[in-house]
Amino acid sequence: MARAGRNRSARSPVLLVGSGSYFANTFSWQVLLAPANSVYSLENPQSSLATLSADTDGEYLIQLTVDNSRALPHNTTFTLTLDSTLTLDSTLNKHGSHLNFADDIVPLLQTTLYNQRTCQSCHYSESDIEAIPVYYDSGNLNVYQDVRARVDFNDPDNSILIRKPTRLQHGGGVRLDLASELGRSVYSVFMDWIAHGAPCGNDGAICVLP
Ligand code: HEC
Repeated sequence: MARAGRNRSARSPVLLVGSGSYFANTFSWQVLLAPANSVYSLENPQSSLATLSADTDGEYLIQLTVDNSRALPHNTTFTLTLDSTLTLDSTLNKHGSHLNFADDIVPLLQTTLYNQRTCQSCHYSESDIEAIPVYYDSGNLNVYQDVRARVDFNDPDNSILIRKPTRLQHGGGVRLDLASELGRSVYSVFMDWIAHGAPCGNDGAICVLP
């Protein structure tokens, strides 16, 4: 069964993540629709991780088809919106393989406003909201380990870090709203960071060994 994540917004180039597919021996990525006159290319289109590079902003309809010797091929599509003007702190100017927790993910958890709230505004050590399961503030010396424990390396879209704030089944409601460009772009950054192994970076205060 093909799984490639949900609609996202990003800057080119973008990593396409099919590793969460089930019963898949072969992978094939295709661009079904692209903006007029766009010149684009797919790197590793027959692999679970492919990269799309394009010179034109706009919507790209991406399809992933997976197959194995016993089942019928299965495919899934999602819309990737390329927007070269996206800025999100430092993050979206980086290629996904350079994303790290300390520089790029921490600001998204501590300072970025999602419908007027930061993640940290509820997820902080001194919060009086009952039963907050994870703290994102700098007072939590294990913040990196705590976030890493909530990612699914094989299937980034299944990470609880992503599943919770994109759904109503979250004590804080829908915060990463995939109907908004901010939500889709933060989602894309999380997907990219996890697919690249969720590295911590070099910040001595945050990237301490447990
Ligand atoms: C308005 C308060 C509020 C905000 C803002 C908020 N959350 Fe939450 N979050 C909660 C509460 C309450 C829970 C515990 C209940 C639950 O699991 O749904 C929770 C649970 C979670 C969990 C589950 C952790 C676990 O191990 O069970 C994750 C992950 C999470 N939130 C991520 C986020 C992210 C990422 C953001 C910012 C995009 C965010 N939250 C913003 C209130 C909030």
